[in-house]
Amino acid sequence: MKRLTLTRFMIEEQRRSGALPSELRLLIETVARACKTINHAIGKGALGEVLGSLGSENVQGEVQKKLDVIANELLLEANEWGGHLAAMASEEMETIHRIPNRYPKGEYLLLFDPIDGSSNIDVGLSVGTIFSVLRAPADASGREVTEQDFLQRGSEQVAAGYAIYGPQTLLVLTLGTGVYEFTLDREIGAWKMTDGPLKIPAGNCEFAINSARHKQWSPAITRYIDERLAGEDGPCGKDYNMRWTASMVADVHRILKRGGVFLYPADHRHANKARLRLMYEANPMAFLIEQAGGSANNGHERILDILPTGLHERVGVILGDREEVETVAAYGREALATAGS
Ligand code: F6P
Ligand code: MN
Repeated sequence: MKRLTLTRFMIEEQRRSGALPSELRLLIETVARACKTINHAIGKGALGEVLGSLGSENVQGEVQKKLDVIANELLLEANEWGGHLAAMASEEMETIHRIPNRYPKGEYLLLFDPIDGSSNIDVGLSVGTIFSVLRAPADASGREVTEQDFLQRGSEQVAAGYAIYGPQTLLVLTLGTGVYEFTLDREIGAWKMTDGPLKIPAGNCEFAINSARHKQWSPAITRYIDERLAGEDGPCGKDYNMRWTASMVADVHRILKRGGVFLYPADHRHANKARLRLMYEANPMAFLIEQAGGSANNGHERILDILPTGLHERVGVILGDREEVETVAAYGREALATAGS
């Protein structure tokens, strides 16, 4: 079967819409190429001596795995010299990475989580790379890009996607005109389209949540999960399944393909404590999910409408099947109204 390659897909998209600048196409090609290299390193596992931790901590206070650092370096190196970027930001780096003066600069900003779900690395389970692309503010050309330039709402993203390193190596991409899945043909090194435009199937009775955190849940989240756990005998009148891989990429990918809802709510007891990062995880995933007909919020506000106040800001995330996400939000509103009355 003849399949569309990523390169051809983007060239045709450029011709069709006229809205895909060559620089952006180069950016996506470069990220996709870096993901192939990351895939290669991950695939070697213990044989490549890439497993285990470094003993260092990242800006988030998390122990860095060797592969976190390797993947971060690969993404920086691949994207530095092409002239398509003004700067980069990564979950693994405290401050932004400006393009060195020896290289030309472009108009885009690239943000990434080099290895998502890294607790899975050493046990040979699925991990991924998440990326998000913003435009640098118009007044940034001719001056140094600052962290402030990155602090844009998720709705400003011009592209987002992830690679998933699992039984197959997949690239899932949106340029704002639908979501497409490409599978890496490992023999020839090309990304070939295998699905899309993706539409989240409605009505799949499945949710993904780390239930060990139930003490941190708000009354709305507790109600939503309890009702689903009650299954056939509860208010939903049907049995649900629970799935959790501890890799957001894998959990979100399953939801994109099969339906259901993913929840990593903020800690109800500590106002600002949440697990997932707005700019490297929540925003790109929310963009993909919305492009596939789903929705994404933090319990009360659409993720893509949140104005970030810091590069490493964390946020509660509820995303997937539009109706399920809306049910959680409605429970939140009801709980608020009860508390206020
Ligand atoms: O990047 C954060 C992350 O690893 C996500 O990929 C994943 O969804 C989540 O954390 C797993 O959290 P926990 O360790 O609570 O299961
Ligand atoms: Mn992550």
